[in-house]
Amino acid sequence: MVSLTLKFIFMVIFLSSTLLLAHTGVKNEDVMKRMNLMKSMAENSKIIGKMLKKKIPFNLEQAKSSLIEISKLSRSTPLVFEKMAMDPKSESKMIIWEEFDNFRDLSNKLADDTFSAAKNLSDVDDLKPVLKTIALGCKGCHSRYRE
Ligand code: HEC
Repeated sequence: MVSLTLKFIFMVIFLSSTLLLAHTGVKNEDVMKRMNLMKSMAENSKIIGKMLKKKIPFNLEQAKSSLIEISKLSRSTPLVFEKMAMDPKSESKMIIWEEFDNFRDLSNKLADDTFSAAKNLSDVDDLKPVLKTIALGCKGCHSRYRE
């Protein structure tokens, strides 16, 4: 019994720690926060992408809520990047903090664009231009500020 319990505890600790390591291996909390925000950006964008490719059925409410989510995440992007923080695994470039006004403008633009996309979305044919808007917003920032 005792060994079973120990084995169980060991397994839980071991599994959770490897999960954390597999997650990012990042120790800096601020860096972790911004990476998690970016992951949610990707997850929500993927939902739109999957609907467009018909891998999942089109659902107006779900599409809108993903867009609203991307909008909120974009609005929060300057907040999680404001404090300069670095980690060996980070892909952020230092110029973010030299050009923070521009970085903030790019975030806010994506927030505005996805918000109005959510408001105007009415059917499956709208998804293509919307995904393009999203992709340009992500790329516009990544090409300058991400390794
Ligand atoms: C205003 C700038 C900006 C915008 C807009 C932006 N990103 Fe990012 N993104 C970054 C930066 C900077 C990093 C690098 C973060 C780090 O490693 O410190 C990053 C990293 C990521 C990562 C990697 C996260 C990880 O775990 O290492 C993903 C995925 C990502 N972004 C997805 C997106 C998607 C999808 C969008 C658009 C919907 C988007 N980003 C929009 C700046 C931005």
